[in-house]
Amino acid sequence: MVGFDAFARDCRAAIEQTLDRVLPRAPHCPPVVAEAMRYSVMAGGKRLRPILVLAAADAVARARGEAVADAVARALPAACALELIHTYSLIHDDLPAMDDDDLRRGRPTLHTVVGEGQAILAGDGLQAEAFHLIVREPHTDDPAIITRKLRVLDVVTGAAGPAGMVGGQAIDLQAAGKGTGAVTTLDGPSLADMHARKTGALIRASAAAGAIMAGADEAMLAQLDRWAAEVGLAFQIVDDILDVEGASEALGKTAGKDAADGKPSFPALYGLETSKRMAAEATTRADAALAAAGLRASHLDAIAQWIVRRSS
Ligand code: IPE
Ligand code: IPE
Ligand code: MG
Ligand code: MG
Ligand code: MG
Repeated sequence: MVGFDAFARDCRAAIEQTLDRVLPRAPHCPPVVAEAMRYSVMAGGKRLRPILVLAAADAVARARGEAVADAVARALPAACALELIHTYSLIHDDLPAMDDDDLRRGRPTLHTVVGEGQAILAGDGLQAEAFHLIVREPHTDDPAIITRKLRVLDVVTGAAGPAGMVGGQAIDLQAAGKGTGAVTTLDGPSLADMHARKTGALIRASAAAGAIMAGADEAMLAQLDRWAAEVGLAFQIVDDILDVEGASEALGKTAGKDAADGKPSFPALYGLETSKRMAAEATTRADAALAAAGLRASHLDAIAQWIVRRSS
């Protein structure tokens, strides 16, 4: 097995190439929306979710003694679909009606460049394209693979929707006093629930999508999901910590925004030290889940370490 750095580099190259290939172009769609979608997707970003999809496929194929490269290639469309949905969520998250941010992935946010209406539509377009991509690719007549793709669609649509990411974002806005209705104050469990939805859901769906495309059985899927839930929680706790401790240049987005906007966050509720401990505890629980899943011989633990040690 190659080291994680080499694995991630190869994944990134395949992901960038596939994203470039699948993003719609004019005259297939109007240039204004094609260019807006491309602006945000091709701005870089860590590509953590698609790398996680591919690492899950790799891990499951290894555990099943099956061809790893085939499993990874089969999971690549779903990996890119998750990145399209994630990028759409960032575009909408940055809108004036939501977090009102002007910096993302080291560039001016999309709405500051093309206007709010076009940015909303680019986000909508990316979400639809993501599902279109999972339906289209891999192109096959094999009923077993078609069944896996349907299962991936089920998992990803559920995670992106009102019970998942959209629901978490709605709780976030309500708690920050944006929109109608009473402003809610979140206690520890409610904050963890918001994080699990707004960020954890797509991270869990990423792990599941890769595992499903590699043919994981139900027991392995359930154990991998326990790992992903812990990793997803750690990811958003670290995002909240970086908002306090990080610098805008390194983050590629505006630092210090959560406190300024009265956002519910782990540092706001628990302080920085306890938040760091809670992120570390989540990764310890993740490690135990990975061992129980029999998936330690993989890149998954390196991904968990990357999530807690990252500086952007
Ligand atoms: C930021 O996600 C938004 C959250 C869900 C916390 P990432 O930190 O993965 O952003 P990119 O994709 O690297 O830009
Ligand atoms: C956003 O959380 C999660 C999404 C669903 C996009 P944040 O609002 O904390 O993300 P950043 O810090 O702006 O990237
Ligand atoms: Mg937000
Ligand atoms: Mg934000
Ligand atoms: Mg944040």
